[in-house]
Amino acid sequence: MRTPPSIDRRTFSTWLLAGSAGPLAACDPGGLKGMGGDAAAVPEANEAESAPPVPAVKPGETLAMAKSLGRGINFGNALEAPRENAWGVPISPELFDVARDIGVQTIRLPVRWSNHALAKAPYTIDPAFFERVDFAVEQTLQRKMKLVLNMHHYRQLDGQATDGRKDKSFHLDKDEFAVEPALLHERFKAMWAQIAERYKSLPRETVLFQIYNEPNYALTPSIWNELAADTLAVIRRSNPERFLVVPSINWLPSLAKLQLPEADPRLIVDVHNYQTIAFTHQQLQWMDPVPPAMPFDRKVQDKILEELDVMAEWVKAHRRPIWIGEFGVSIGTDPKERAAYARFNRDAMESRGFSWAYWDLAGEFAVYDPKARRFYPGMRDALFGA
Ligand code: GLC
Repeated sequence: MRTPPSIDRRTFSTWLLAGSAGPLAACDPGGLKGMGGDAAAVPEANEAESAPPVPAVKPGETLAMAKSLGRGINFGNALEAPRENAWGVPISPELFDVARDIGVQTIRLPVRWSNHALAKAPYTIDPAFFERVDFAVEQTLQRKMKLVLNMHHYRQLDGQATDGRKDKSFHLDKDEFAVEPALLHERFKAMWAQIAERYKSLPRETVLFQIYNEPNYALTPSIWNELAADTLAVIRRSNPERFLVVPSINWLPSLAKLQLPEADPRLIVDVHNYQTIAFTHQQLQWMDPVPPAMPFDRKVQDKILEELDVMAEWVKAHRRPIWIGEFGVSIGTDPKERAAYARFNRDAMESRGFSWAYWDLAGEFAVYDPKARRFYPGMRDALFGA
């Protein structure tokens, strides 16, 4: 597998200064210091009270931001693997070219920070890993796409049995390490303090942070709502104006239990739609049992629409935007059924005013095969064609 070139810091800094219109970048060149991976300067995470008030938005501004995410794609199986390249998708310039060329407006970048930070305070994130994320950020922004940078697969925080395992007790992925359980939430916030500080100068028109992917299992609604509020306060200390993405709890089922800080109008909610799992996850060997081949029939279509209706109701009731940050179908599915699924979802989401990001570009649900250097049949058109 090819090793991508390491980041050229000069290029990135130049881009930051030239390309960003945000007030932070304009008046805070010192913010770039953090880009150098200054390990000594790990910001404090446990002073949520000191977060500044979040500036008000103009009417419709957050909704406009959510809409501007448009058609997106997930850079899955890359930086959210326990180690880079462990799940077969390289962070290569070629893949960013592919995304830009097919018309992707937003890249969602899943990142497993938890495997690249110290186990104990101050939970310093490995500077070399930060540089790999810098590289992906730079590649995205250079090509004029928007970016949603997240935290993904903190297995121990979820207390989750990894997908497909028979026993539902908690275990870590291969090559992952555990920390003292009592430190989990503090570590989560401390990692966010560092991420937020490092990227605070990036333009808020194009870069959003998503505080976590799919809280579930041990992250029950009450636990998650509290952790999310604390984490948002930590991020707001360095990024008062940035639009932040907060995930729904337990996919759709606990959306109604999600509580967001009233005083923060700069939040977008991410809900994923894999209806139905039997259809979207067919033939995946890590599923237990492995779902057999099935067509994209009326029943599946109805389930998709049902989920979208629940989301649309929530938006109306809460006056906050929802972004569909994941939906997708496995590459083992019949190509015609895959393309039909992709097109159906796209049309259904867009006709209801939702922006979206397909899962994923080059992994197990891919649009593009990086080894063969070709698109999977029908997928490019179904998602991004006329
Ligand atoms: C999940 C995850 C992603 C996973 C995908 C397919 O919801 O966010 O990491 O690979 O969906 O199961």
